[in-house]
Amino acid sequence: MMALGLFFLATTAGRRTIATTTSTCISSSHKVIRPTTAFLSSSSLSHHRKDTSKQHMSSSSSSSKQAPKKKKKSRGKDLRREFIGMAKAVDRGQFAITYNPGGKDGISFEAKSGLPARNKPFVVLGIESSCDDTGAAVVRSDGVILGESLASQHDIHEEWGGVVPGLAKTAHEEKIDLVIEEALQNANLTMSEVDAIGVTVGPGLEICLRVGCERAKDLALRYKKPFVGVHHLEAHILMARLPFGNLERVEVQPATEEVHEAVHAMSFPFLALLVSGGHCQLMKCLGIGRYSIIGGTIDDSLGEAFDKTARLLGLPVGGGGGPAVEALAKEGDPKSIQLPIPLQRRKDCDFSYAGLKTAVRMAADKLRLERGLESIDDLCRQDKANIAASFQNVAIRHIEQRLNRAMDMIENEQEEEGGEKIQSLAVVGGVAANLELRSRLEKVCDDRSTSWNMFVPPPRLCTDQGSMSAWAAIERIMVGSSDQADGQEVYARFPFSA
Ligand code: KG4
Ligand code: ZN
Repeated sequence: MMALGLFFLATTAGRRTIATTTSTCISSSHKVIRPTTAFLSSSSLSHHRKDTSKQHMSSSSSSSKQAPKKKKKSRGKDLRREFIGMAKAVDRGQFAITYNPGGKDGISFEAKSGLPARNKPFVVLGIESSCDDTGAAVVRSDGVILGESLASQHDIHEEWGGVVPGLAKTAHEEKIDLVIEEALQNANLTMSEVDAIGVTVGPGLEICLRVGCERAKDLALRYKKPFVGVHHLEAHILMARLPFGNLERVEVQPATEEVHEAVHAMSFPFLALLVSGGHCQLMKCLGIGRYSIIGGTIDDSLGEAFDKTARLLGLPVGGGGGPAVEALAKEGDPKSIQLPIPLQRRKDCDFSYAGLKTAVRMAADKLRLERGLESIDDLCRQDKANIAASFQNVAIRHIEQRLNRAMDMIENEQEEEGGEKIQSLAVVGGVAANLELRSRLEKVCDDRSTSWNMFVPPPRLCTDQGSMSAWAAIERIMVGSSDQADGQEVYARFPFSA
């Protein structure tokens, strides 16, 4: 219960990362701004992951010696233009390292560190430390979460207005053992009773990923357990397949001699909308490790847009500003402020939130002037609520439009090419916890001429936590895939292979 309490507290993972040293690099899911020097060249960003890893390493060491400057704004905005689309955008072949667990034909996976017996349910310890929450969970392969623990870093990052990588790394180091121990205790199991270990290895903040990964590697080697290096986005997506509501289900029948029966909330193939602090993507999910990207953000992610709006309105952002914006929006009129819907002239499935962010700022500033106030922060609660509601309304409208277009495209493709039909949508990632988004997207699905099924994990399982690593590892193991613990690396940028 204690773990569950922690869990609920931590459902608002914040994703702005704050610079602590003197150069800049961008990870695939999180912006790390070190304000004083020039940006890395795009070629070094895309091809030399080792170089960027050194940057991350140096950021960690210097940040621990030097106190970060509070809420420092990044400079060289025009330089950043060069990188539009690089940080969180779709992989269009520009990355050297991609996630490829094998099985592109759906079958040929490799169990590099072996597999547990799969003819009866097995248990996996999952570890997650990709950003600002240290999570661990023990999950059984029939989808039952046996024990969890999550240490949130909200309070640590709140005063800086975003995630400070060096502080996050230190906090992960302080909490990792405790969190693993607590998850095991809550599951009433010891480490030797666990059948395998899964840990997030990317994308994320490299110095943070390393904390969880090194601990998981130690445990896997010491206890001789199969090991899975989990892809964080795949883990978000696969949460849509976790069979919820079956906590009583303890007897699982063998499906074949080798593998036990597997019940899933959703079956492949399906369309996924991944909306988190670092990502905003639409993709066709065909199987484990088989994702075909239909659209991605060309600048900010949806979570980032929520976080920036929260900061503009002076709302708490330590654990991500989304929940605070959502709560305040309930008191406002979503039609009160005119804001432009992004990318009206681009007839594709990509997203953009940078323009909306500027429009929200300008609208807030206009109100401030009308009210004769010194700062946006001085606006009354009703004005702020109207801004929050109008922003949320348009931000979701953009998603609705892109989603409808993706669905049209998929339906047309299917008509032309046949093949297995995609008629279900999974909404995953931290922003999927937003109730307004959930109900509006449900309506999109219902309103289609051939109606779509929609599945969204419960809000607390949308944001980062240990169960997602454990469940993703289970899914990999069920298809016969595992990695070697010895030598496992972590990857700040880790796009799906095309
Ligand atoms: O998936 P997540 O925990 O971390 C990443 O992998 O990025 O997502 C965190 C993001 C943050 O931007 C946070 O503000 C947003 O999800 N978020 C929400 C809500 N809960 C979390 N945004 C809008 N409404 C929410 N209820
Ligand atoms: Zn995440």
